[in-house]
Amino acid sequence: MSDAPTLARPAPATIAAPLALLAELTHRCPLRCPYCSNPLELDRASRELATADWKRVLSEAAALGVLQVHFSGGEPTARRDIVALIAHAASVGLYTNLITSGVLIDRAKMTALTGAGLDHVQLSFQDTDAASANRIAGLDHAHEKKLAVAALVREAGLPLTLNAVMHRQNLDRLPAMIELAVELGAQRLEVAHVQYYGWALPNRRALFPTYAALERATDIVEAARERLKGILTIDYVVPDYYARRPKACMGGWARQFINISPAGKALPCHAAETLPGFDWPSVLTTSLSDIWYRSDAFNRYRGTAWMPEPCQSCDRREIDWGGCRCQAFAFTGDASRTDPACALAPDRPILDAARADALGPETEFVYRQIGGAPKA
Ligand code: SF4
Ligand code: FES
Repeated sequence: MSDAPTLARPAPATIAAPLALLAELTHRCPLRCPYCSNPLELDRASRELATADWKRVLSEAAALGVLQVHFSGGEPTARRDIVALIAHAASVGLYTNLITSGVLIDRAKMTALTGAGLDHVQLSFQDTDAASANRIAGLDHAHEKKLAVAALVREAGLPLTLNAVMHRQNLDRLPAMIELAVELGAQRLEVAHVQYYGWALPNRRALFPTYAALERATDIVEAARERLKGILTIDYVVPDYYARRPKACMGGWARQFINISPAGKALPCHAAETLPGFDWPSVLTTSLSDIWYRSDAFNRYRGTAWMPEPCQSCDRREIDWGGCRCQAFAFTGDASRTDPACALAPDRPILDAARADALGPETEFVYRQIGGAPKA
């Protein structure tokens, strides 16, 4: 625990305050999903921030103008202080969202979380078929527990979002996933195709869908959006490997989000630790205000001045912000290149080759584990 310096200098007028804090409380998780977006090198429990540090970070976030905090991980309810942290976030005026697998939540925990002021729950589902869901999660009975937790969330009167990560092994059951969201009383369903970084990279051939399957899924989502207007909102994220233009990753580098790792590193996105040449600031030694407004790490790819061509003269540069820096690095070895998910990128052939490889013979799952994935 430490006393970090706080809001000493005024903020530069050109940079807006962050919208949300992503509090990755822990990398511990009873599930072992083979597409986990956590880094291959997971933070061990002994390196996690103390309760008092998290509380100070939450207070600093509220003072900075942050509106929402998303508690995630790993599995955030694996932290014994989760109720205290939610209570503290609520007490400083933050909207609190719990992103959870649900498997550690029972009725008593749900009551405590609700009493602490929790505003919203995002519950992940691996599949609609229990046997398949539990195999993907790498945990027996996980699916059955999630169904029970969804009921507890609705009983508590909290809004519920279902997170469904879709891929080759469950895409046929997308219609059933949409029906499950309606049955469970969710207001929102996030249908997210796997993005290929973190643990998803060594599992690419086990997970990557064909283009025909992706097109079918897109049609299903569009029809369901029409049919379920006013009942269920469906967010839809397609895999970058099939994109013609990249997504605005994190809404642009250091434009909306601050991500704090379990050990207290401040990052513009959860995957940024994979980028070399950065001295990531720690919330143990630097105030959130200095991190957001003044750190080299957060300023390096902020805005458009850093962009190479073709982004620099492209009329989408303030729409997608040049795509994803982590993906640009993963493909090209240089985070400042145009994201190859853009068809205009000079490095697009690298992505085309990765897509061809991903469609190769299917492999067995490499499950998430402490110590990292074996070398491919
Ligand atoms: Fe986006 Fe750059 Fe592609 Fe333009 S060239 S669409 S700004 S990634
Ligand atoms: Fe890091 Fe996209 S995941 S910028």
